Amino acid sequence: MNKYSKERLEEERADSSAAPLVVCMGKGAQKDAATALAKRVGAPLSDKPGKELTLLIDGNGVSLNGYGLTFKGDFEQMLHRLTEGRLQHEMISRVCKTKETGLKAIDATAGMGEDSILLAANGYDVTLHEQNPVIAALLKDALRRGKKHPVLKEIVERMHLVEGDSVELMPKRVDEPELIFLDPMFPERQKSGLINKKLQLIQKLERPCTEESELFDAAIAAHPKKIIVKRPLKGPYLADREPTYTVKGKAIRYDVYIYG
Ligand SMILES: C[S@@+](CC[C@H](N)C(=O)[O-])C[C@H]1O[C@@H](n2cnc3c(N)ncnc32)[C@H](O)[C@@H]1O
Repeated sequence: MNKYSKERLEEERADSSAAPLVVCMGKGAQKDAATALAKRVGAPLSDKPGKELTLLIDGNGVSLNGYGLTFKGDFEQMLHRLTEGRLQHEMISRVCKTKETGLKAIDATAGMGEDSILLAANGYDVTLHEQNPVIAALLKDALRRGKKHPVLKEIVERMHLVEGDSVELMPKRVDEPELIFLDPMFPERQKSGLINKKLQLIQKLERPCTEESELFDAAIAAHPKKIIVKRPLKGPYLADREPTYTVKGKAIRYDVYIYG
C-alpha cells in the first residue's frame, strides 16, 4: 500500500499524536498550487488559519504556523557552517569526507535537509527522501529558494528531493550510492525543553521511528559502501546493529557501518 495514500493521511491526521492541520491560502498564492498542496497533505483548504496547525502558502512560499510559532525552511541559516574553514570541522564532514566529487548519497530521513546540505557541501550529489508530506512541502520550498541564492545555489543544485518512504524507495534504487545517511527521529527528542522552539512545531507532525530494522535493511538493500547513522550521544544503536566505528560529539554521535 502507498503509505501516503489519501486514506492513510486522513487516518494519520485523525491520530491524536498528529495535530489537526489546515492549508491556508495567503496573499500572492496561486489557487492551483494551494489546491495541489492541500490535496498532497490531506488537509482542507481554507482562507483562514486553522485552530492548531496551519500550512500557509503565499507569495513568499510555504510556512508552518501554530501555537504562536512560525516555521519556514531556510538554508541561509546554514551559510556560516558551509564556509570552507567551518565545514571541515563539522562532525558529519569527518565521517563522510572524500576527495572525489559527485559521489551519490541518499539522505533517507531528510527532515528539513540540514544534514543533506552538509553532505552536498562536502561534494555529494544527494537524494533526499522525506515521507511526511507537510515536511516535504516545507523542504521543497526551502530548496526552491536555496536554488535562487547566489552562494547556496551551487550546493543546493546537488540536492534532489524525492517524496516517499525510504523503506520502499531504497531497495528500488538502480545505481549503488556511496553512502546512506539515517537520522530517524529518536523518541527522547520529544522532550520539548531540549529543542529549538520552532522545531517543536515540526515534531507535532512527526512520530518516532518504529521500524528501525526495516529502515536499516532497506538501506543495506541499496548496496551503499557506507551507512552513517546519527544518534543521540547515549542512545542505543539503530536496530541494535553494532557499527564499524563511532565518532562522538557533545550531544550526538555518528555510527558508521562500512560495507565496501
Ligand atoms: C529527525 S528528522 C531528520 C532531520 C534531518 N537529519 C535534518 O538535518 O533536518 C527525521 C525525518 O525523517 C523522516 N522519515 C522517517 N522515516 C522515514 C522513512 N522511512 N522514509 C522517509 N522519511 C522518513 C521523518 O518524517 C522526519 O522528517
